[in-house]
Amino acid sequence: MRVLGIETSCDETGLAIFDTDRGLVAHALHSQVAMHEAYGGVVPELASRDHVRRVVPLAQQVLAEASLSLADLDGIACTQGPGLAGALLVGASVAHALGFALGKPVVGVHHLEGHLLSPLLSEPRPAFPFVALLVSGGHTQFYEVAGVGRYRLLGESQDDAAGEAFDKTAKLLGLGYPGGPALARLAEDGRPGVIRLPRPMHDSGDLDMSFSGLKTAVLTVVRRETAAGTLDPPRKADIAREFQSAVVDVLVGKSLAALAATGHRRLVVAGGVGANRELRARLSAAVADRNGEIFFPDPVFCTDNGAMIALVGALRLASTPRGDGSFSVHPRWELGSLAPPATGGADPAG
Ligand code: KG4
Ligand code: ZN
Repeated sequence: MRVLGIETSCDETGLAIFDTDRGLVAHALHSQVAMHEAYGGVVPELASRDHVRRVVPLAQQVLAEASLSLADLDGIACTQGPGLAGALLVGASVAHALGFALGKPVVGVHHLEGHLLSPLLSEPRPAFPFVALLVSGGHTQFYEVAGVGRYRLLGESQDDAAGEAFDKTAKLLGLGYPGGPALARLAEDGRPGVIRLPRPMHDSGDLDMSFSGLKTAVLTVVRRETAAGTLDPPRKADIAREFQSAVVDVLVGKSLAALAATGHRRLVVAGGVGANRELRARLSAAVADRNGEIFFPDPVFCTDNGAMIALVGALRLASTPRGDGSFSVHPRWELGSLAPPATGGADPAG
């Protein structure tokens, strides 16, 4: 089965074709980062308009790359939520128009399910069950994943997501948007342990987290150092290094606790912050120490993309061949409310 996946939930237009026999056969992405940069964040109306411009040419591009025509598709998947309403509507409109014109089924995909299952796009693929750390700009959550569509929330950030804290802290340090990658680069020049920031909820005894206090702690340091005239570039690098260490310490501690609490030995890390090199290195070492296994998506599939939507669309269409038939988007949508596919969501390889 060949499925065209369309991702338009935020500031990336992602198109891809997933073939259940051959795997991912083509993917293409347009990032709107340069367009939103001037505003310091995503402007929803501009995002929707840009998706309108990009989505059809990118669809043509992936079809050409895969040497396929529209008639070769067996179904179409689009991100149905959560995300920006106007942006989601662009992908959903194109998906349903194509489905109607071609007489092919359309399925709406939960964006976070895409992130959670994105490690299945790369080898080696994690077998179920596993613990997933979903760490993006909008979410920082632990799930127990028993199979496709079988997700149990174990704990989550009580306030800012880790990526959001990276972005806000980067702004405080005068770095551009999106701040996560820029802050991570600056941290490489910083000295360890020169500045001390808190590790919020590190020892809370549960799997919940909190990152907004950390950002406020950085604000206090920045104000103090600005007043003292000591906030020079090396000092900013020290702050970036300590901030990144604090986030990584919390995420590593909670990941090990999540594995211990569930008894699972496989950890999957997904979402934009999963591209962070320090997090990848420290988590890999900690999990290996406990004889566990860790899986990351390819860095290109950590951030938003069409491949993860095409993959989940194919998994869902396998058990719902007629698609879900509803033209609607869900800007707010809990992952825990998803029903497993009719077949029970056992093995994605099957
Ligand atoms: O998953 P994603 O593309 O979008 C959603 O939030 O759904 O994640 C984007 C987030 C942003 O907050 C960005 O700053 C962060 O991931 N990010 C990083 C890195 N690369 C992206 N944070 C820290 N280090 C990175 N290397
Ligand atoms: Zn995302």
